[in-house]
Amino acid sequence: MGKLKLGVLVSGNGTNLQAIIDRIKEGKLSASVEIVISDNENAYAIERARHGNIPVHTVSYKSFASREKAEDRVMEILGKYNVGLVVLAGYMKLLTKHFISAFPMRIMNIHPAILPSFPGINVIQKALEHGVKFTGCTVHFIDEGADTGPIIIQAVVPVKDNDTEETLAQRIHDKEHIIYPIAIQLFADNRLILKGRRVFVKGYEYSQRQPSINPYNL
Ligand code: GRF
Repeated sequence: MGKLKLGVLVSGNGTNLQAIIDRIKEGKLSASVEIVISDNENAYAIERARHGNIPVHTVSYKSFASREKAEDRVMEILGKYNVGLVVLAGYMKLLTKHFISAFPMRIMNIHPAILPSFPGINVIQKALEHGVKFTGCTVHFIDEGADTGPIIIQAVVPVKDNDTEETLAQRIHDKEHIIYPIAIQLFADNRLILKGRRVFVKGYEYSQRQPSINPYNL
C-alpha cells in the first residue's frame, strides 16, 4: 500500500500545514501532502506550500455561482491528485453536504477548543471570557454539523490568570501542531475505528496518569 495522500485546505497562516510538512520531512509522519488548496489568494499558507515544493491551487468562492460549484472545483482538484484524506487546516469555508458525502469519514478538521465546548469562531477569546480553567484543541472528522463530527484526539492546556488571547492562542497552537500529525498518522495506519460517534484507536493502552486539575500545586 502506498503512502496516504493528503489534500490540505487552508485560508490563513498555515502553521498546521507547516507542522504536517515538517513532521513528514523528519520522517515522523508517513504521508505526503500532494496538494494545498486555498480559498484566499493572500494566505501565507500558500508561501509555505511553495517553499515545500507542494502544488497549490487557489479556489476563490466569489468566482463561482454557488458554494457547491466552488466545491466541485475543489473536489476536481483533490480527485486529480488522488487524495485519500482531506485535511482542513484553518479552512474558513463551511463544507456542504455535497462535499462531505464525497469523502465520508475522510475529512479531518482541527478546532482550537475542547469540543463540544466552544464550537464556531473566535473561540479562544470566548473560552478566556467564559473563565474556563482548561481549554485546548480537538481533531475530529467532519460531519454535516458545525464542529460536531466524531472526535479523534484532544489536548488540554491550562488557562493562566495572566493569559491574554495571544498567550493562550500560542499555548493551544503548540498543542495543535503536535496532535494533528498524530491523528493523521493514526488514520494512515488504519488504526481509527468508528463505533457510533466514538473513535477508538486500535492497540492503544493508557499507561500514564496525566494531571487534570487546574489550578493545582496550591
Ligand atoms: C487553528 O487555530 C485551527 O484550530 C483553526 O484555525 C487555526 C488555523 O491556524 N481551525 P493555522 O492557519 O494552521 O496557523
